[in-house]
Amino acid sequence: MATLKAVRGTRDLLPPETSLWNRIETTARAVFARYNFGEIRTPIFEDTGLFARGVGEETDIVSKEMFTWEDRARAASEKPQSLTLRPENTAGVVRAYIEHKLGESGQLQKLYYIGPQFRRERPQKGRYRQFWQIGAEVIGPPSAGSESPLRDAEVLEMLATLLDEMGIAGWTLELNSVGSAADRARYNDTLRTALEPVVARMCVDCQRRAVTNPLRVLDCKVPEDQPIIATLPVIADSLDEESKKHIEAVKEALDAAGVVYTLNPRLVRGLDYYTRTTFEFTHGGLGAQNAILGGGRYDGLSEAIGGPKAPGIGFAMGLDRLVLTLQAQESDQKSAPPQVDAYIAPLGEGLNAAALKLARELRRGGLSVELGDGSFRLKKSFESADRVARKIVILGEDELSSGILTVKDFATGTQTKVPRVELTEFLKN
Ligand code: HAM
Repeated sequence: MATLKAVRGTRDLLPPETSLWNRIETTARAVFARYNFGEIRTPIFEDTGLFARGVGEETDIVSKEMFTWEDRARAASEKPQSLTLRPENTAGVVRAYIEHKLGESGQLQKLYYIGPQFRRERPQKGRYRQFWQIGAEVIGPPSAGSESPLRDAEVLEMLATLLDEMGIAGWTLELNSVGSAADRARYNDTLRTALEPVVARMCVDCQRRAVTNPLRVLDCKVPEDQPIIATLPVIADSLDEESKKHIEAVKEALDAAGVVYTLNPRLVRGLDYYTRTTFEFTHGGLGAQNAILGGGRYDGLSEAIGGPKAPGIGFAMGLDRLVLTLQAQESDQKSAPPQVDAYIAPLGEGLNAAALKLARELRRGGLSVELGDGSFRLKKSFESADRVARKIVILGEDELSSGILTVKDFATGTQTKVPRVELTEFLKN
């Protein structure tokens, strides 16, 4: 029989690597708490229409990368429905914001999420079909200050702090403004005109985009098209006064806070909902997939999916890519295997139950404990213990009846007799 394997583009995450994942998630939750963000968990699949309308039909994500299926009706009362595994979480968060009328509180909603996303992309290092994002959104009615450039700067400052505390060294923040919906419409017209004489020499995707959504031409990765793209007009020249003022205020606040950025006038991002501020944090150590996170403002997204006016800004970071970056940084300092405080070795199967009782005492006392098995020879117990634990506790008939246990410390080689009541304290030191 053919062996079954994890599906292409998906993978299993195993210890000890998962401890790094946990460390990153713990840091993120702690930083989010300091900035007063609360956690939101939305479903992993949604109505396909949410992404078509929210992210945009013309984007690569929606037009070719979604895992979509027709959910059959199971009863006469049900209708068939097209469902999709979420390729990103901003549309889902905004849907939840609308569905639960979160705007009616009049307050800004500051929400974060940690979870898997799904895109049918060509798998390679740092690019998977199931990948993880840590993201956050700040959204609310305009009266709550949701349009303020201070919100953009605060999110970017938080990201700088987050990456620093995760230990990611050497990141770059690339910043741009894609303007308001009106600015973008004007820029699209400018691009369409500029593309007319040159588009015949570009790839078929660009030829299609030049008609449907010229802005997407800037996403093109085909090397031969890059010299042409470099000659196209930049969006900064199509911004109106309000949009210009907005990005200037973001920059001013970032300068004041000491957050360093690079302006990238061609950064347009691969999702259609962005307005004004857009950004990416990149890292040189990642190769082709060098974006560790991306985000921006989406002032019209709520209305696009049938909600009230609710400007917002947010980001999502690729957890898989954060792990790759940290692993590359830490590979020199070969990390020692994680060690538990004690390994309990019962001497004979008749002592297994007593060993479980002892392990329970120690674990309740806050120690990490590995429990051996009385069917093992003592030599095998010592070998197993030496691999995983700092100390081994021998539990034989004598130890059980006298209440005095034998403990060996692997680092020093010393053997000590310890009364059972003092064992937890002894093992902690
Ligand atoms: P995005 O740029 O599509 O934005 O994805 C954000 C990050 O997710 C990327 O920078 C990358 O680190 C990671 N990522 C994306 N695709 C993959 C993949 N196939 N494998 C591994 N990692 C990947 C969004 O998703 C927006 N929702 C961000 C946002 C939130 N904008 C506003 N709010």
